[in-house]
Amino acid sequence: MTRPSWAPEGIDLDRPSASRVYDYFVGGMHNFEIDRELAHMIEKFTPNVAETMRANRDLLRRCVRFLSDEGIDQFLDLGSGIPTVGNVHEVAQARNPEAKVVYVDIDPVAVAHSQAILDGVPNTAIVHADVADPATILADPAVARLLDFERPIAVLLLGVLHFVPDEADPGAGVARLLEVCAPGSYVAITHATADGQPAEVLEAQKLSGRTSTEISLRSKDEIAAYFADWTLVEPGLVQLPLWRPENAEDVGDHPEHSGAYGGVARKG
Ligand SMILES: C[S@@+](CC[C@H](N)C(=O)[O-])C[C@H]1O[C@@H](n2cnc3c(N)ncnc32)[C@H](O)[C@@H]1O
Repeated sequence: MTRPSWAPEGIDLDRPSASRVYDYFVGGMHNFEIDRELAHMIEKFTPNVAETMRANRDLLRRCVRFLSDEGIDQFLDLGSGIPTVGNVHEVAQARNPEAKVVYVDIDPVAVAHSQAILDGVPNTAIVHADVADPATILADPAVARLLDFERPIAVLLLGVLHFVPDEADPGAGVARLLEVCAPGSYVAITHATADGQPAEVLEAQKLSGRTSTEISLRSKDEIAAYFADWTLVEPGLVQLPLWRPENAEDVGDHPEHSGAYGGVARKG
């Protein structure tokens, strides 16, 4: 297939990518036939996967509004994805035009597209890095220029930690990132789980191995451990539609079908 102008040179067009499959599920335009094929296969196994991904994106928007209302004006968004409707800087800067947002993603398409979207947008940047490599992230010039870790900050880990296998020790990476945050900072995490899911979810999880980032489903207790001793804000770590829904549509008919947990915690 031919490479569209928004896709950087050198990406493997014969292999689906997690960010483009997600982009397809949440209604974006930056995905290829190979991504859509995988999305359809996953959907066939577990119709609620698409639902869970949309619930994740809805939670992201509610979460950024919540954090902005708590006075947070700087965001480190890890595993930020291909920009789509309602990006973190759009939601945050609608609340506070001075809000600063640094996006981080490992996927070249997500990075290239973020660069294009952010061109000329003040107080924003995109960094190409692995969330499991906090030293590189924290040493990045854009992070140093835009974010002040002496003041409260929000670290967003939405829909990304399940792409980090146990061997890469995601817990250690998260702990390092949280360690450098000032008191009053927040961390938001959403993470896929097999808890309460039909057995087919495991089949869908295996399909994710066709991308370069296979999903690791984790239990509620394993996900809760990432928050360490930070204090979870109400309602705690819950299935995505149940995290501070703003209307009946956010909750949907079967919030218990959601294949992911989400929560936000405060330091100190
Ligand atoms: C499901 S999308 C989530 C996008 C956005 N955070 C959201 O919640 O809507 C997951 C993103 O994480 C990225 N990702 C996966 N593994 C990563 C890693 N090790 N480091 C940084 N980003 C990663 C993928 O490229 C993808 O763009």
